[in-house]
Amino acid sequence: MSLTGKRLLLVISGGIAAYKSLDLIRRLKERGAVVTPVMTAGAQAFITPLAVGALSATAVYTELFSREDEQDVGHIRLARDCDLIVVAPATANILAKMANGLADDLASTVLLATNRPVLVAPAMNPMMWANPATRRNVERLKADGIQFVGPMAGEMAEKGEAGIGRMAEPLEIVASVEALLSPADKPLAGRRIVMTSGPTHEPIDPVRYIANRSSGRQGHAIAAALARLGAEVTLVSGPVTLPDPDGVDVVHVERAEEMREAVLSALPADAAVMVAAVADWRVASASSQKIKKQEGEGPAPLQLTENPDILKTVGHHPLRPKLVIGFAAETQDVEKNGLAKLSRKGADLIVANDVSPETGIMGGTRNRVKIISKEGIEEWPDLTKDEVAARLAALIAGRLREPEA
Ligand code: CTP
Repeated sequence: MSLTGKRLLLVISGGIAAYKSLDLIRRLKERGAVVTPVMTAGAQAFITPLAVGALSATAVYTELFSREDEQDVGHIRLARDCDLIVVAPATANILAKMANGLADDLASTVLLATNRPVLVAPAMNPMMWANPATRRNVERLKADGIQFVGPMAGEMAEKGEAGIGRMAEPLEIVASVEALLSPADKPLAGRRIVMTSGPTHEPIDPVRYIANRSSGRQGHAIAAALARLGAEVTLVSGPVTLPDPDGVDVVHVERAEEMREAVLSALPADAAVMVAAVADWRVASASSQKIKKQEGEGPAPLQLTENPDILKTVGHHPLRPKLVIGFAAETQDVEKNGLAKLSRKGADLIVANDVSPETGIMGGTRNRVKIISKEGIEEWPDLTKDEVAARLAALIAGRLREPEA
């Protein structure tokens, strides 16, 4: 894989692993990347700007308030004029500054001012890595979308110390850089995909509702898998207890009608993947007051009315995505019912599964599906829901690559 023409800003912070940054620069340049180094004062205690600059063959930036540097590029341009920022080694101190938005030298200021993706390769003593303060900072940085490579387990520079804290090897860092920058690994980059997941809750009165056993696990896993392939995913989710998947735009709704509105306002899209277990019926007129039991009278009658069929609406919409995928949760005649759904709903694919209670699929972590299309039926083996998601995401990427029929 090549990094030809990719512009990397390499922030080197102060740790003994800084000597490996010299090799990292060499490896990145071998692959065609342009590497601009920024060094903290701590880094310069371990390696010199002269050595770094000799390998990068570019200017090395060290000062926030350097008149020449500011006139030449300026820290804001430094922060923006690159495809990726790599922090290697990343000390506990620079991670703490990043997590808290501190900007008191050139490296931390560039990291605060950037709008580019950031990859960090932590390197520190295992006690520092295990410290609750570092744990908090790492969690916060991950939530902010900072990418991590390492640290690894192994011997430390300090005699007799071992544990997690060693910086990832330069070639591992290069592999992470390639994964983040190479479009071949992001076959869905630039594609918009609208999804539904989870159950819907249809109110009876302010305290009661009609629901179903969907956990949202399969739909959420698919949204995450699509995002990993670079898709811009809008996930319209019914009430679930799952966290929002990384890198996905989540719209939270309760009722089928709200779900339909949210899906339609996310069109146009390249694909629609409707996984939600939408309640087929809702109470015709939900009570605004809690329905009380009346002594001597039977239960209050529930008048039901049909909910909009979101998949069918999308499948026949003037803004119909190129690829429309539905799910079929069946307890009998899986293939026959799946095929009928394909044409009735205007879908290109139906992912059918048997959700009979003995399968444990509904609410569980595994799934066994059949992919039903005009071309035929493909049976997938018993897989985790994450594996089904990864396969389906790859299938979607393949289908969207095909030219229009
Ligand atoms: N679906 C939807 N809106 C609905 C009902 C279903 O978008 N109101 C979608 C689901 O997200 C799923 C597919 O349609 O992708 C199949 O749902 P299912 O409830 O199994 O199909 P139904 O048409 O309701 O058929 P049946 O109840 O007869 O199984």
